[in-house]
Order: sequence, then C-alpha cells, then structure tokens
Amino acid sequence: MANDKVEVVWHQHAVARSEREKLNGHRGCVLWFTGLSGSGKSTVANVVDHKLHEMGVHTFLLDGDNIRHGLNASPGILQPQHGDSFAERFGLGFSAEDREENIRRIGTVAELFASAGVITLTAFVSPYRRDRDAVRARLAASGESGDFIEVFVDTPLAVCESRDPKGLYKKARAGELKGFTGIDDPYEAPANPEIRLDAEGHSPDALANEVIEYLRANGWIG
Ligand code: ADX
Repeated sequence: MANDKVEVVWHQHAVARSEREKLNGHRGCVLWFTGLSGSGKSTVANVVDHKLHEMGVHTFLLDGDNIRHGLNASPGILQPQHGDSFAERFGLGFSAEDREENIRRIGTVAELFASAGVITLTAFVSPYRRDRDAVRARLAASGESGDFIEVFVDTPLAVCESRDPKGLYKKARAGELKGFTGIDDPYEAPANPEIRLDAEGHSPDALANEVIEYLRANGWIG
C-alpha cells in the first residue's frame, strides 16, 4: 500500500446516538439473519421489516443480493468501469476471505444504521462464526452488548436444496459451481443465537411474528 500511515481522526458527533433514539422513540439494534442459501432469511427479514414499519418503527433491511450488486460488487461488475486491477482488489466473490470482507463491510454499515437509531435487518448467509462474532463484538464496543441479535434461520439443507430458487444447488451438485455453502463449503451454525427460527413447516408470517415477539419481550419496541 502506498501510504499505510494515514491518520484518521474519529469525530465526536454533535448529535448523540441517544438523542436520535429519543427522536425515533426506540433504540437502534441489528437483527442479523444467518442461514443457508434458500433458508428463507430474506423472505422472513422482509416480512419483519414490513410489520415493524407498519407499527411506526424505523427500520432498514440490508439484503445479500442487493449489496453484492453495489457496496460489495463482484470483480465482474466492477471491471468494465474501473479496470482489472481495481476489480481484482475490491471486488468480492465467495472465498473464505472474500466472505470475511463481505461481512465486515456489512457489519460496519449495519453498525452505522444502528447508531442512527434504526432497527437494522441484515440477511446474509454469513457462514463463518468468527465473522459474525466480530460484528457482535464491534457493536458491543460501540453501543451496548445486546445490540446484536443473531437470528438463525434453521432450515435443513434438504429443504433449501428442494426449493433451490436460483438453481444454484443443482449447479453445485453438478460441479459447475465450486465452494457453494452447504455442499462443498462450510456453514457454521450459531451455537447460541438470540433467536432460532425452526423454519421448516412454518410460514414466513409466523416466523416474523416470533422475531417481533422477541423485540417486544426484550424492550426494543413498545
Ligand atoms: S456470504 O457467504 O458472503 O454471507 P451472501 O449472503 O453475501 O454470502 O450471498 C449469498 C448468495 O449468493 C446466495 O444466496 C446465492 O444466491 C449466491 N451465491 C453464489 N455463489 C455462492 C456460493 N459459492 N456460496 C453461497 N452462496 C453463493
């Protein structure tokens, strides 16, 4: 790197987090949905988002596929506009290291939203325990422990594979897609998630209600 001694001074914001939260009428936090591809993370997170919004809660959803088209675009998306070396350096794929950076960036953005007093939902496979725990630790350091609410969407691999909404499991089984989570890449299930959704056989609406109940029972919403 050309200059690895860049001095960055952290500014104290004039409007405190607590003042933003008072204006919103509730505290900010991160609802971190994790689970296999096709487990229903995005679907359930979207329903929770809608329900909370209708209740007058300030929310925002960061969703895997959208983020991987923008903030965490692939080398292939970046190359035409920015060239080879830029795409190589900043574009993200699905290696363990790229997933680590994917989750680090999303965790940082989620932390910013939470500090703006927003109930922030994220829906990423986030297969590595270490990467999720790092986000948890960051949030505890900048806010309060408890601001990170891990939601494990526990859908058996066989169910995800039978849904296969994008046809990716089929490609992975055929060996056309390497390093696919659950097939030839690991998924490390959370050991102690705040919420575990037994997603098989329950509607997205019922699962979303479980999440909202948790928020109510723990004083996040009135
Ligand atoms: S994560 O592992 O880095 O958290 P993320 O949630 O952003 O993954 O993206 C996962 C989505 O990308 C999947 O739902 C699937 O549609 C797609 N995808 C493409 N390649 C892979 C792969 N090798 N493993 C998992 N998901 C993949």
